[in-house]
Amino acid sequence: MNSLKLEELRKEVKSCNACELCKTRTNTVFGMGTINTDLLFVGEAPGRTEDEQGLPFVGRSGQLLDKMLAAVDLFRDKNIFITNIIKCRPPNNADPTPDQQKACRKFLDKQIELIDPKLIVCVGRIAAMSLISPSFRVTKDHGQFFQINNRYIVGTFHPAALLRDPGKKEEAFKDFLKISNFVAILHTS
Ligand code: URA
Repeated sequence: MNSLKLEELRKEVKSCNACELCKTRTNTVFGMGTINTDLLFVGEAPGRTEDEQGLPFVGRSGQLLDKMLAAVDLFRDKNIFITNIIKCRPPNNADPTPDQQKACRKFLDKQIELIDPKLIVCVGRIAAMSLISPSFRVTKDHGQFFQINNRYIVGTFHPAALLRDPGKKEEAFKDFLKISNFVAILHTS
């Protein structure tokens, strides 16, 4: 049932023209993965490769994200869903503006409602500032679990930041272990 509703939502996203990004996009990027999941990953916005393919996190950052996920037994086609705060690429990979985020927010809210995850993982600062708190600081607050609207939510480093500064990978990996342990505990309780 919810999979049908998600497909309807995907169509709605595809024809959206609520902000100016509809003029420059090649494809909308709705998200992908397992609908029956406790775990939703939310990134910032599609980049060039994502815009070309219509899929989230498929460029260099996405490849690193997939490696880190696989290391803790998490896979798009098995136990997680991945999407972004906004569904269209901002030209030149600019940070999504508050107006763009506002125009797109209804789609993410509906995805959260339909997927109904127990834990949302904000991938990077922008997603965490939008979903946890505008004052979220990734170096200080990553890996901390918050409870918001009856769901747990945690922020971690964006893989693009890890590519720029591989020294942060160890801390990020600890977050991924916490996330996977959290899900394992959910399944035993
Ligand atoms: N960065 C993001 O935040 N999301 C993507 O889908 C790709 C890169």
